[in-house]
Amino acid sequence: MLDGSFPNGRGKHLSRWLSILGDEIDVIPGVYQLWSEAQDAVNLGDERLIRRYTNLIYLLHNTVLSPKTRLGLDVRFAYGGIANVIHLNSIIGNRVALGQGITLGGNPGSVKVLDNGEKFYAPRIADHAFIGGGARVLGAIEVGRFAVIGVNAVVLQDVPPLTVCVGSPARQISRITVDNCLKYKGLWTHFRDMSKEEFISLIQQEEKNSYE
Ligand SMILES: CC(C)(COP(=O)(O)OP(=O)(O)OC[C@H]1O[C@@H](n2cnc3c(N)ncnc32)[C@H](O)[C@@H]1OP(=O)(O)O)[C@@H](O)C(=O)NCCC(=O)NCCS
Repeated sequence: MLDGSFPNGRGKHLSRWLSILGDEIDVIPGVYQLWSEAQDAVNLGDERLIRRYTNLIYLLHNTVLSPKTRLGLDVRFAYGGIANVIHLNSIIGNRVALGQGITLGGNPGSVKVLDNGEKFYAPRIADHAFIGGGARVLGAIEVGRFAVIGVNAVVLQDVPPLTVCVGSPARQISRITVDNCLKYKGLWTHFRDMSKEEFISLIQQEEKNSYE
């Protein structure tokens, strides 16, 4: 009897998967862990390994994310990263928080040209943005630092830094300020251990930077 089945013969599904996965079933690596591990393959240009990581991310989490997509440091996917679809050319900054079931995708005809002439078609999410579960960000959209996108929003326009937007199409409902920021602190697990005072001073600094 494999570990995981019961004496009465029940538990056959678990036993079967244990025979395939062994002890590995105890720890399912999250999307960000797999993406991080795959960066060696990206640096080596090893397409076969890249494809394998892409497939593994899909298989374990129902998420479409290529190791070639640019993610920053400590990007947090809710629940390990369930059912997200992330465009190959999206860019996600440092310490961004992403809910389950989000789409960062293209939108026909949506294109932006940067000052240096570079064109892009897919969303660019700046550091510390929060994207709620089920949200769709579609096209050449820039989401600013510390912007908050509510659950199930459909974002078709840029979201400035420190801005909260909700709905379909997304509309701005407030700005994050030193006066109201504690209401939003809990959205980022990144800040769980940060004191209220530290968080307020972080937002104060961000406010200053966003006006410069
Ligand atoms: C973005 C968010 C933080 C907004 O919170 P908020 O600033 O406190 O907004 P409020 O509750 O004050 O609502 C302001 C208005 O926006 C509307 N609203 C709030 N969230 C909304 C949403 N996700 N979609 C549509 N409308 C929304 C409210 O109905 C209200 O409308 P009204 O002014 O017409 O009455 C919240 O919607 C959200 O998405 N939280 C994320 C929660 C989450 O991800 N939890 C983990 C789940 S696993």
